[in-house]
Amino acid sequence: MNILIVGGGGREHALAWKIRQNPDVDKLFIAPGNGGTALLGTNIPLQDDDIEGIVTFAKDNGIGLVVAGPELPLVLGLQEALSKFGVPCFGPCTFAAQLEGSKAFAKNMMQETGVPTAAFRVFDSHERALSYVRTHPLPMVIKADGLAAGKGVVIAQTMHEAEEALHDMMVKQVFGAAGLTVVVEEALIGEEASFMAFCDGSTIVSMPSLQDHKRIGDNDTGLNTGGMGAYSPAPILPEEQYHAMADLAIRPITEHLAAIGQPFKGVLYAGLMMTVNGPMVLEYNVRFGDPECQPLMARLKSDLVEIMLACVKGTLSPERVEFLQETSCCVVMAAHGYPQAYPKGMAISGIEEAEGIESVKVFQAGTRLQDGKPVSTGGRVLGVTALGTDLQQARERAYLATKKIHFDNSYYRKDIANKGLRRS
Ligand code: AMP
Ligand code: GLY
Repeated sequence: MNILIVGGGGREHALAWKIRQNPDVDKLFIAPGNGGTALLGTNIPLQDDDIEGIVTFAKDNGIGLVVAGPELPLVLGLQEALSKFGVPCFGPCTFAAQLEGSKAFAKNMMQETGVPTAAFRVFDSHERALSYVRTHPLPMVIKADGLAAGKGVVIAQTMHEAEEALHDMMVKQVFGAAGLTVVVEEALIGEEASFMAFCDGSTIVSMPSLQDHKRIGDNDTGLNTGGMGAYSPAPILPEEQYHAMADLAIRPITEHLAAIGQPFKGVLYAGLMMTVNGPMVLEYNVRFGDPECQPLMARLKSDLVEIMLACVKGTLSPERVEFLQETSCCVVMAAHGYPQAYPKGMAISGIEEAEGIESVKVFQAGTRLQDGKPVSTGGRVLGVTALGTDLQQARERAYLATKKIHFDNSYYRKDIANKGLRRS
């Protein structure tokens, strides 16, 4: 079978690495891919929002499965566009993708289906939003409704910050149409965890828990990023609780979507806040997290292609989804300056030495190959991932591996998994 992966980050390298392990995969294409995926298949110069281009490529190249890495193509209708030509797509339909594409949609569905989430109101009038915000206790959270490249959430500590966020989103329209509608919600306090499940429209199979590290600086300081590291399992969400968590955060949504004729097929990701009043859902993603996918793929024992096809066909069963008992940890190496301006084009060395360490795999993110050697092209450059018998060993191996890798202006957090170690 020929497979096309859409996307070009660390997540897509991890997916390509796992998909390549299936002996029945003939040609593997990645659009647009990166320096890591180029070693496993053929990179295609198509961007993830080029739905027409992706569909044409899939038709012309006998693609038997398209795997959507990021959310954008799903929100733009990739699944339906492919299904018109009978090409299976791992990822939900446009309607279900609104769980990520519209925060108001997600919050309303959580409310309707009884999923615990922060109290909220939705506004499309700046005037009404402003008068509501002026009566809301601080801190409060203001979110642009649509996709805003991870920048659409403001946790306002002062009234000035709240008013400014509303003005930026609704009047200045810094996120374009994505900010014309806003969600204003109560700020929750707690530790965050990530919980994902494979879904085939009716059956759901939970994956092991993870914890991401969203801020750029150690001890969760500084700007928000796409994620600076992740590990699995997260002791804050132990295995005994997966079943209950699936019932709380995933099943109400998938059952509702099935009941209204929009079954969810793919990965549903719940971003959780573990509060003193129990877990609450902060957001849904309709895809694997990045970097969460990297430590998850390191632990996945079963064949990913079979799981994905089962999700598409509606034949998913828990026995087909097995994970290693080992713990995994991924440390993201970034370009200094990220998530703001950062240098590019740095030559990367030491990946082979890093992978010489037991159970280490280096997933490439913002890279491309130049004369066969990786150079940086993005803010998040590598995801250095290791397995270990416990979190301490996985973390030690990942950090040992980062020390073998060199590129100018590299930066990584030194405290990945520390929270987990404190609990384990
Ligand atoms: P979201 O895209 O909705 O997950 O928001 C991005 C990040 O903002 C989350 O990972 C949290 O760190 C933070 N956040 C979102 N909503 C809330 C909330 N209601 N209370 C506290 N923090 C939040
Ligand atoms: N790492 C968080 C995300 O993928 O959205």
